[in-house]
Amino acid sequence: MAKARTAYVCSECGAEHSKWQGQCIECGAWNTLAEIVVQPAGKPVAASRTGYAGAGGPAKIRRLASVAAEAERRSDTGIGELDRVLGGGLVAGSVVLIGGDPGIGKSTLLLQMLGTLGQRVRGLYVTGEESLAQVAGRGQRLGIALDGLDALAETSIERILGEAATAKPDVLIVDSIQTIWTEQLTAAPGSVSQVRESAARLVRFAKETGTSVFLVGHVTKEGGIAGPRVLEHMVDAVLYFEGESGSRFRVLRAFKNRFGAVNELGVFAMGDRGLREVPNPSAIFLSAHAQPTAGSAVMVTREGTRPLLVEVQALVDQSSLGNPRRVALGLEQNRLAMLLAVLHRHGGAAVYDQDVFVNVVGGIRVQETAADLPVLLAVLSSFRDRPLPDKTVAFGEVGLSGEIRPVPNGEERLKEAATHGFRRAIVPKANAPKKTRIGEMEILAVDRLGEALSAAW
Ligand code: TYD
Ligand code: MG
Repeated sequence: MAKARTAYVCSECGAEHSKWQGQCIECGAWNTLAEIVVQPAGKPVAASRTGYAGAGGPAKIRRLASVAAEAERRSDTGIGELDRVLGGGLVAGSVVLIGGDPGIGKSTLLLQMLGTLGQRVRGLYVTGEESLAQVAGRGQRLGIALDGLDALAETSIERILGEAATAKPDVLIVDSIQTIWTEQLTAAPGSVSQVRESAARLVRFAKETGTSVFLVGHVTKEGGIAGPRVLEHMVDAVLYFEGESGSRFRVLRAFKNRFGAVNELGVFAMGDRGLREVPNPSAIFLSAHAQPTAGSAVMVTREGTRPLLVEVQALVDQSSLGNPRRVALGLEQNRLAMLLAVLHRHGGAAVYDQDVFVNVVGGIRVQETAADLPVLLAVLSSFRDRPLPDKTVAFGEVGLSGEIRPVPNGEERLKEAATHGFRRAIVPKANAPKKTRIGEMEILAVDRLGEALSAAW
């Protein structure tokens, strides 16, 4: 039998190299190569290794129409917000990576999920971080029926897979992947090579047996899961659990999902009995200002399948640096730089000597371009130290030539804002309904940035 060989994998981009070197040829990152063991290819891969059906024997050509029906066996997890982010329930044989800061509630969420899955499925919770007594204690506090739940405190992947092969769980949780190691490698647990190899074995296990596997991953300081790209390639879905420290709200976001939309959000609130779903989160990300405040603008975002009202805050201040700072939290940094250039050219406000900080309240990330207009309104409001009029909401994409472009689902966004008592909406002309108001809300349709700014103040 062919022997296992070593190779070197880049922790940034996942590229594989046959020998060690200081810089990754693929992505150019320095000091990111780590040793891994590559198993020999061996015999041709059987159908059971690649398909979900779990049938043995060599692979055969099949008409896709007959396969599609069984491709996705989904089951509800019993937690609606989690199902939503997963794309409509848990897929059998899928591998889901849940990342997030330590203490954000990853273990709590998964334990609660096993609780709600309850008697319907067999769950196995593998912990490499806590003792079984701690897990049981938490389960009790969460009010989960523990009699149907199996748990294992183990970090060796060989032993975990051995136990799992006997226990045959439907859902396997590994908390956390950074603690798991294989005897085949000498590298320390938590290193890229150990994490990658352990994850690869778990992925293989999931595909071979049809078990749904959840991997918990702690986020590193740089914001990625240790060996980030490497794991992202291997799993079916990557969900990030986010939230601001001090806030009890938590947002679960699909960063990659082979079985659903990637911009879907699930919202939870952490309480003394664990995580509670927030099925109607539309207004929880607004901070309650007693009076209109300079540097604040409210937008209606539509991440995923429902509208959400969020507040964008900006602080614009005289810079003492030659290179003024541009900091965007919850938004894309490059987009902010571009928007400031548009503001200069088409809005007549020069902020080149100002530090600009922009933040989306509540730890939410807004990735859609509908945030462009509210970002500029917040920036200008701070720059001029003039609050936007009370109960104003805005959305719209801003183009390089200062035009305001429409965004999807305009009417739905407007209705949501009207429901929450907003009085004025500044929106792209193409998104405006024929009527000039919805309920109590006046609609100001704008075509150009200049028009939007004069409509706002
Ligand atoms: P945990 O799930 O252990 O986080 P992670 O696995 O992501 O590291 O969550 C721990 C935090 O949640 C901790 O700060 C305590 C808090 N918590 C509650 O507020 N209520 C609860 O019922 C539970 C179980 C935890
Ligand atoms: Mg944990």
